[in-house]
Amino acid sequence: MKRVMVLTGGGDCPGLNAVIRAIVKRAHQEKDWEVVGSIQAFNGVLWEPTEIKLLTPEIVKGIHFQGGTIIETTNKGGPFAWPVKNNDGTYTTVDRSDEMIRKIQYLGIDAVINIGGDGSQRISQKLYEKGLNIIGVPKTIDNDLSSTDTTFGFQTAVEIATEAVDKLVTTAASHNRVFVVEVMGRYAGWIALNAAVAGGAEVCLIPEFPYDIDIVKAKLESRFHRNRGFAVVVASEGARPVNGEMVFEKSDEPGYENIRLGGISRQLIKQLKDAGFQHDMRETVLGHLQRGGIPIAYDRVLSSQFGVKAFEMVLNKEYGKMVAYRHPNFVAVPLKEAIAQPNLVTPDNALVKTALGLDISLGVDFSKLAD
Ligand code: F6P
Repeated sequence: MKRVMVLTGGGDCPGLNAVIRAIVKRAHQEKDWEVVGSIQAFNGVLWEPTEIKLLTPEIVKGIHFQGGTIIETTNKGGPFAWPVKNNDGTYTTVDRSDEMIRKIQYLGIDAVINIGGDGSQRISQKLYEKGLNIIGVPKTIDNDLSSTDTTFGFQTAVEIATEAVDKLVTTAASHNRVFVVEVMGRYAGWIALNAAVAGGAEVCLIPEFPYDIDIVKAKLESRFHRNRGFAVVVASEGARPVNGEMVFEKSDEPGYENIRLGGISRQLIKQLKDAGFQHDMRETVLGHLQRGGIPIAYDRVLSSQFGVKAFEMVLNKEYGKMVAYRHPNFVAVPLKEAIAQPNLVTPDNALVKTALGLDISLGVDFSKLAD
């Protein structure tokens, strides 16, 4: 029997279970393959005793619409930066990648499918360079991976953010208020921009275009007449003012290497007050609500397509590659290419033009930015 190991790494994302199910179902059609899952990304292999679970069609039955991941995930540590506690309570990280590859071989695993975002696919590439037969599946609600038209989970997050805008519009209008909705996305403004267009927001602030507070204030003031009016601002968690910093905290969780973004909505309200904006303002931070729960149909379909294609790449021994969606096809792109640069919003993007055409302010003098 040949064996493929599946794992989910990084933040969870609606659609992970649909990918797992698709891999298992497609593998089951080949009589000589079985699928195992490593619990919590590569931790399942690295732990003693190991936690590797056999994934049968019976186990994955009906999980395509379940949120989260049945094999758990982590965005801490990993084979190249395994956290080890020192005597003084601090942590250092050690490289356990060689040991892990030996363990994978010892476990009789012929190939690995790593479902994860940019951080996970960087790990995939490094392991591939060390000789591991590995394939990537792009996962992120942020849609910040290039080489693929889109990632699963993203549209579900946009749906949740849009629903929030829809709800906040009614309370904003009733109270003559400005609502600032803070959405995820890290360094990419895709969730914010899509939710702003879909929800009909007045202002959308994204990391790619640092905002001018006077422009934001003027736009919001234009929405009020004799103290009557309302507006909704969609702010991406990575948005920042011109000459200003993103709002973040450094994490003290062992092995967590990312910064934790969050708090721009509150900062924006303070900046607007300091600039003399006088209407009532409230903030709503959507946070992990955008990652939890069931994937919408679009993401279930995309996840299933990624899963089937990933297993077929295993059959074809297309290692060191990531599945990518390039409408209308699913193709294999080198991991190296997939992680080379992030997918960020650019001034010439069609959706930016749409947003401007709808009078959504992006907080910048766009005629200058586009030059
Ligand atoms: O990358 C996905 C994402 O949801 C980002 O949008 C967000 O900044 C980050 O993960 C938060 O991750 P966590 O709280 O799980 O560390």
